[in-house]
Amino acid sequence: MTPWQKTDWRSKPRVQMPEYTDAEALKKAEARLAKFPPLVFAGEARTLRKELAAVSRGEAFLLQGGDCAESFAEFSGDNIRDTFKVMLQMAMVLTFGAKVPTVKVGRMAGQFAKPRSAPTETVGGVELPSYRGDIINGFDFTAEARIPDPNRMIEAYSQAAATLNLLRAFSKGGFADIHRVHAWTLGFTDSEEAEKYRDMANRIQDALDFMTAAGLTSETNHELATVDFYTSHEALLLEYEEALTRTDSLTGQQVDTSGHLIWIGDRTRQPEGAHVEFCKGVINPIGLKCGPSMTTGDLKKLMATLNPKNEAGRLTLIARFGAGKVGDHLPKLIRAVQEEGANVVWSCDPMHGNTIKSASGYKTRPFESVLREVQEFFAVHNAEGTIPGGVHFEMTGRDVTECTGGVRAVADEDLSDRYHTACDPRLNASQALELAFLVAEELSGRQASRQAAAS
Ligand code: PEP
Ligand code: CO
Repeated sequence: MTPWQKTDWRSKPRVQMPEYTDAEALKKAEARLAKFPPLVFAGEARTLRKELAAVSRGEAFLLQGGDCAESFAEFSGDNIRDTFKVMLQMAMVLTFGAKVPTVKVGRMAGQFAKPRSAPTETVGGVELPSYRGDIINGFDFTAEARIPDPNRMIEAYSQAAATLNLLRAFSKGGFADIHRVHAWTLGFTDSEEAEKYRDMANRIQDALDFMTAAGLTSETNHELATVDFYTSHEALLLEYEEALTRTDSLTGQQVDTSGHLIWIGDRTRQPEGAHVEFCKGVINPIGLKCGPSMTTGDLKKLMATLNPKNEAGRLTLIARFGAGKVGDHLPKLIRAVQEEGANVVWSCDPMHGNTIKSASGYKTRPFESVLREVQEFFAVHNAEGTIPGGVHFEMTGRDVTECTGGVRAVADEDLSDRYHTACDPRLNASQALELAFLVAEELSGRQASRQAAAS
């Protein structure tokens, strides 16, 4: 058998990818990208895989989150900082509640390409190709903007590089020092969640004061001063992914250096299709979205293809069924995993099965449904005796009004106030924190039953 090549996907059926009209321009952009420096290093992808292996055993918890789609227009240091800050806060709530480490993975620094439910959209009688994310075409509703432009890949790369640079600086440069746990409090002073967070921060501060007195400081213990933060995105635009795939000089293995973890969307997971073909050959941890149409047969095939050696931490199954539907789908998929003896991380994406059109015409997600899907996910795992390993959210550090509900209730008619997303509605900082507290409660239950089982 000839070894896997990063170009093999080109001979497989593809869906959700643009048809570039200017073949010459495409070739040029690909050639430029192929010469650019890698964004991540193979060793980092391997470390993340080890951390996810711990998640699969219930020894850590995965928090994955960020924009639905990063955009060129919303690119700023403040936005990156605020999303990073909310992720740190959520991770703190989870770690404190569950007493296990949180593996932090941003939907950041490469999350640009979007699968769409329809190839075209019609506004006021005018039909145009759908917007597919800033790496492919433009959001403006004009024929010109909607033409796929390969040079957008170059701009996306440069934005991803700058984003990752700032994330690395925040992670290692002092910003994420746990002694700043109070300083991460964002401007939502009036919310109940902020109050809860401050209480928790006080208790952490107490523990830190005790540790300082005992001689454990950020200077003596580097882990207190820094965090590991990983990046992820959907590997949808395969020309971009291929151009950033490189041979690891240490092992000779192929690694997609566009991000640490890449995932396959619910619409592009055909077992014989291009996206699965591409992802199977790179050593990065792989995510696989599992929606209501995932069959046990397909799941078994996909696990065999994507993780033939059954390595723990290689494959994360991201369940996204919608509130009220988890019980119909998740148990049979969990059993399929067990029948195969497969090592996987089970994560819950309570966003993509709960998108509705509001009365005011905006795409939204009721916070209640998001909460309920998370609860159902935990309940099914508890009933099956398996490990609920993580959560996957679309969220932002900004005070947007895109999802309805939450303690500082966003109503239907508020959606137009601050609706900024380039694609799906995101949780705002306060909603994201509220969810983290709920997950922490569920998790402390998980840990309690593990400890009871062990003693
Ligand atoms: C997404 O994560 O933005 C997405 C499109 O998800 P899914 O493939 O689950 O629909
Ligand atoms: Co989305």
